[in-house]
Amino acid sequence: MDELAPTLLAALRRYYAAPSGGPAAHAKGTTCRGVFTPSPAAARLTRSAHMRKGPVPVLARFSNASALSNAPDWARDRRGLGVSFGPGTHDIVAVTLPAWFTRTPEDFAAFLSSRQSEFVREHPECEPALRRSRAAPLPLSYAQTCYHAIHAFALINDQGERRFVRWHWQAVAGIANVAPGEAAARGHDFLQDELAARIRSASVTFDLEAELAEPEDPVDDPTVEWPVLRSRVRVGRLALTAIVPGRPVSFDPCRVPDGIECSPDPVLLARPAAYRLAANQRLTASARPETGVAGCRAGPG
Ligand code: HEM
Repeated sequence: MDELAPTLLAALRRYYAAPSGGPAAHAKGTTCRGVFTPSPAAARLTRSAHMRKGPVPVLARFSNASALSNAPDWARDRRGLGVSFGPGTHDIVAVTLPAWFTRTPEDFAAFLSSRQSEFVREHPECEPALRRSRAAPLPLSYAQTCYHAIHAFALINDQGERRFVRWHWQAVAGIANVAPGEAAARGHDFLQDELAARIRSASVTFDLEAELAEPEDPVDDPTVEWPVLRSRVRVGRLALTAIVPGRPVSFDPCRVPDGIECSPDPVLLARPAAYRLAANQRLTASARPETGVAGCRAGPG
């Protein structure tokens, strides 16, 4: 799987017309610190320590998916939220899309390199995510949209019971969108500016929900959303209280502690190597010191 990382990064760079030496994706963003407080329900699902005792310090980064660090915030794009629950512990890396475009990382590289209309004809499974992506409204604020980690993870509790879930971050402030015609008037960096202003006056909060799989739900196919009626358990609340300069060295969507396991989703399993390589390329290209605060690894790897 790791040998695919250079191909994926090259495809991403071409897709986004990334400047050489710049980030391969999610170039523009804002890093925050805060705390995560688990709810009592979390400990019934997982024996993981950070889900039973809190608050725990976290580091989070909001971002736009593009590799262009100067892309306007009003451009049609996915938004990302990476959350790290402490050094080497657990990362949840999520986007505003509830399903992914392809079932495999090989298909994702091909998807990025082909004409979308032709690719969809041969891969109808990518149609739902594409439709969602094209219809996605522009959020008024990073704090007023929902983020989905898409892949399934297994939670294991004290009794050894195992349940597959998908993570969702629900904005406590509610959802608010901006009309496409009005977005540009808000300014080139309105999402970053709005977040800075908001966090100065109040914490930015999200509830973490675990969507519970039923036995018939696929746990290895990120193109398929589970039925809307699946139960959701509120496992805790994220409260971000300050902006910090720089960005975490690297998130890792497969970084999970005891009590949480990755699913066999091939897209999920391909991501860590691509993120490590991307972080290496960023760090090599830039002499700028990265943020080295709690929740970040000292280096990729
Ligand atoms: C094969 C599929 C994917 C590939 C190859 C890929 C690749 C990448 C790369 C190269 C980066 C930049 C990493 C860095 O410079 O440190 C990145 C960042 C990110 N990706 Fe993905 N990604 C994939 C799927 C996904 C999925 C499914 C999600 C959401 C569920 C996601 C969410 C994010 C987010 C939020 C970031 C920004 C993290 C940060 O702020 O540092 N990606 N991705």
